[in-house]
Amino acid sequence: MTSPIFGPITTQRHDNVLVIISNNPPVNALGQAVRAGLAQGIEEALADDSIEAVVIRCDGRTFFAGADITEFGKPPVGPNLPETLDKMEASNKPVVAAIHGTALGGGCEVALACHYRVAVPSAKLGLPEVKLGLIPGAAGTQRLPRLVGAEAALPLVVGGNPISAKQALAIGLVDKIVGEDSLEADAIAFAREQIGKPVPRSSEGTANRDGVRNPAIFDEFRQKNGRKLHGFDAPQAAIAAVKAAGELPYAEGVKKERELFMGLMGGTQSAAMRHYFFAERAANKIDDILADTPLIDIRKVGIIGAGTMGGGIAMNFLSAGIPVTILEMQQEALDRGTATIAKNYDNTAKKGRMKPEQVQQAMGNLSTSLDYADLADCDLVIEAVFENMDVKKEVFAKLDSVVKQGAILASNTSYLNVDEIAQATTRPGYVLGLHFFSPANIMKLLEIVRGAETRDDVLLTSMKLAKKIGKIAVVSGVCPGFIGNRMLSPRQQQANAMIMEGANYWEIDDVLIDFGFPMGPFQMADLAGTDIGWHRDPTRIENVREALCAAGRFGQKAGKGYYDYDASRSRTPSEETKSIIADFAGREGAQQRAISKQEILERLLYPMVNEGALILDEGMAQRASDIDVVWINGYGWPLYTGGPMFWADTIGLKTIVEGLEKHGLPVSDYLRRKADAGERFTS
Ligand code: 3HC
Ligand code: NAI
Repeated sequence: MTSPIFGPITTQRHDNVLVIISNNPPVNALGQAVRAGLAQGIEEALADDSIEAVVIRCDGRTFFAGADITEFGKPPVGPNLPETLDKMEASNKPVVAAIHGTALGGGCEVALACHYRVAVPSAKLGLPEVKLGLIPGAAGTQRLPRLVGAEAALPLVVGGNPISAKQALAIGLVDKIVGEDSLEADAIAFAREQIGKPVPRSSEGTANRDGVRNPAIFDEFRQKNGRKLHGFDAPQAAIAAVKAAGELPYAEGVKKERELFMGLMGGTQSAAMRHYFFAERAANKIDDILADTPLIDIRKVGIIGAGTMGGGIAMNFLSAGIPVTILEMQQEALDRGTATIAKNYDNTAKKGRMKPEQVQQAMGNLSTSLDYADLADCDLVIEAVFENMDVKKEVFAKLDSVVKQGAILASNTSYLNVDEIAQATTRPGYVLGLHFFSPANIMKLLEIVRGAETRDDVLLTSMKLAKKIGKIAVVSGVCPGFIGNRMLSPRQQQANAMIMEGANYWEIDDVLIDFGFPMGPFQMADLAGTDIGWHRDPTRIENVREALCAAGRFGQKAGKGYYDYDASRSRTPSEETKSIIADFAGREGAQQRAISKQEILERLLYPMVNEGALILDEGMAQRASDIDVVWINGYGWPLYTGGPMFWADTIGLKTIVEGLEKHGLPVSDYLRRKADAGERFTS
């Protein structure tokens, strides 16, 4: 018998067990109606003497995936989650969480407030709040350590990555793994077995004493994860909350959690990270294409060029089980490329991230060729040859003549005009840019470059395919450097200009590192090799980079570039580089002065915001948040500032305009208009 209680929550009676069911698509977020319904469901169970146990489960694709993030920042409407969960835990009739899909955040806290947890084998449980710049706010940081111990709780609460049902069983977060297709029935049977026994409450657990006996675990955890956590506020608060679970009585621990939670909720980091959460999801959507546009089936992929990018790109498809044929001009290049792919897979296997049989399967799906005819039956071909328009046009003309009609032809160009490349074919509608980032098997970002004539099905298929191979895709229009590299350009210009004016190059790198980037432009140049694109004539020296090359300072690989490197690759500023720079500055007659860190930061980042504004004004990005997704995933822009456009909103567009003017840098009309109107880029 089903009785609707309140909106998304219904209850079903199975003799002496009441099953409370949530149906709040898409992810059963714990919005106000769900919380109210849950509270009523528990009250119904308690008020009815014929009910002896309760099961809580969800319809649809997942157990509760957390608090409803769209409610954050709005005036709260009760009942709140903590009080709803306290009511659940206080029940003297056993309450069982029946988990499928992902029990995340508030959803995991629901499970913790239940007396027992059963899960299907494919379920995942986790507390990902740190990824939103928060910590669990419904007593998760207090119940979990009491249930599983502080040591087991730390990676969950502080790292934020979910664990499998099996791992959850091993640490005691789950009591039983039940049948994948018999969750409800098994949960009801399990609940019946608990009737009459004293109910175990997570809040009364004592496993957290491990952290009291050995408080060193907190510092050890901090040290081990220092690099990953650097700059983020939430993980520090998460560690403090788990520590408090061992030091304070439950009620006080909950109070401490609330204090930390509210502090984070009101801060800019969480606002930035919540912005990013929705930005990543928005980037998936193409505003002017119908979502039901039929897709092109991609069963076989061709790749032209087995160099740095071609090999990495191939790995994405091979790892997803899609056969790949790589084409090169010479057998030697093919052999080198294939060997690199094999070595990369071996390394992944050695780190335990892939099983040997998975490596074998991936390599088994790889074939090589020197003959275009072998690409005839590919559904998608990605070109990754030299960055030269004439070479690319020749390749596309050949592809056009051999590859079957209806296949997608893509270029991995970093800067070149995709429309011009498309015109080398008789089917420009099937041409687009798929701009992977290096190393292409690791970097998450994929810029999908939409040409003037790119067909809707070609674009949509590419978006879906990106998801399948684990990429975060953003659509860009055709412009030099697309979204990411186009914005990198003015930053690089300013970095180069400032070292001529008297800023030390390592100060420029350090300013960006302090801001949260993994490295600055000069470290980056050393890592990539200062000799990229060098003409190899040591007598022709027209800029600092050419002078570095002439002096054999090719970057990290040579042990010296802008910096000197020791055996462990740590960098120290180089006297030789300093004098090379001073020499150029002297020749240019550039006035030398001390440049403050603040000026360095403004001159590096404000012009990027201005370029972002131009990109938006020209319609090259669909929305400001897409630009943030590009910079966070492709260039290491710190997530906790939300990306360049959200960051600009935090600073205030008026301040950005004034800063650009102060430094004599261009201000686009669009940026000025927005600043004058007191508007923001992001919502
Ligand atoms: N609140 C509101 N909306 C949410 C949401 C949430 N917690 N989680 C997902 N959504 C929305 C998404 O925005 C998306 O909307 P759209 O279709 O309009 O773009 C839709 O649900 C589907 O989400 P995904 O595209 O991400 O679907 P997937 O199947 O790829 O992934 C998921 C599902 C793993 C559940 C993923 O959505 C996810 O990780 N969600 C967030 C989980 C989370 O962070 N929970 C903690 C919240 S904070 C909290 O609980 C605080 C508490 O301690 C008090
Ligand atoms: P690479 O020089 O490492 O590899 C290019 C490969 O293409 C070489 O192996 C070469 O033999 C082969 N090749 C050249 N012409 C060919 C032809 N006509 N037919 C078949 N094979 C041919 O270059 P890399 O770095 O892999 O770059 C390839 C493309 O990817 C370029 O367009 C580049 O701009 C772009 N790209 C490069 C990134 C990087 O960080 N290296 C990042 C993103 C894009």
